[in-house]
Amino acid sequence: MKHSELNIYKDNDQKITCLTAYDYSMAKLIDRAGVDIILIGDSLGMVIQGAKNTRSVSMSDMLYHTKIVAKACEQSLVIADMPFHSYDDVQTALFNAKELIKNGASIVKIEGGIENTEVIKALVSNNINVCGHLGLQPQLIVDSSGYIVQGQDEESAQSIIDNAKLLDSLGVSILVLECVPSKLAESITNKVKIPTIGIGAGKDCDGQILVSYDMLGISHGKQPRFVRNFLNSESSISSAIKAYVSEVRKGSFPNKSESY
Ligand code: KIV
Repeated sequence: MKHSELNIYKDNDQKITCLTAYDYSMAKLIDRAGVDIILIGDSLGMVIQGAKNTRSVSMSDMLYHTKIVAKACEQSLVIADMPFHSYDDVQTALFNAKELIKNGASIVKIEGGIENTEVIKALVSNNINVCGHLGLQPQLIVDSSGYIVQGQDEESAQSIIDNAKLLDSLGVSILVLECVPSKLAESITNKVKIPTIGIGAGKDCDGQILVSYDMLGISHGKQPRFVRNFLNSESSISSAIKAYVSEVRKGSFPNKSESY
């Protein structure tokens, strides 16, 4: 997928498939299975480094993983997470985003809304493509008690809607919605021009993303309800990834019991 196709997919109701990857070999399998977008997520703090949260991931970690994943990507669009504290102010954000782009990312992902207004304006005006991330923001979470569904009351739902509209108007290219009620994600998807990518956000987003280690059953500990292990019913990693692509495109992943 190319950056210029993001809105075409949305306008044609064609679901966008995304998975995370952290290394060359897995990225190659994901790219070859036809996944539209690969995210080098700072979830690597937990799944690769064994940390309790994403906050200890550094820019040098992200640059290393972005470089080795991007090397494998022939057709998937590459998004790299900007780690905790790497976009605290405009100068820091511009410097770090440019480094991620030099290492092979086409888009950089930033968590949060209005508080990032100046940073996003600076990135967009410097022709750096930005992915937003609203709802549950993992960089705000310190331990597992923080993993709760967001936007459940009227005020917090409205705040997520307002932030989504703001990101859309600032020129963000794509928006991840994490752990929000399906109805809220559907309403945001209808209100913004950019594609929404859900994780624990129901089937009506414009696309879906999962942590690859979760959907292959490699991750440890209790999995959230929105995770489906696609390797359970397939005989290889490659066919599990293809099954994920097919279920997302058909709109049969996630189902009701995998949503909030
Ligand atoms: O870091 C990550 O893997 C993410 C996804 C959960 C969207 O941000």
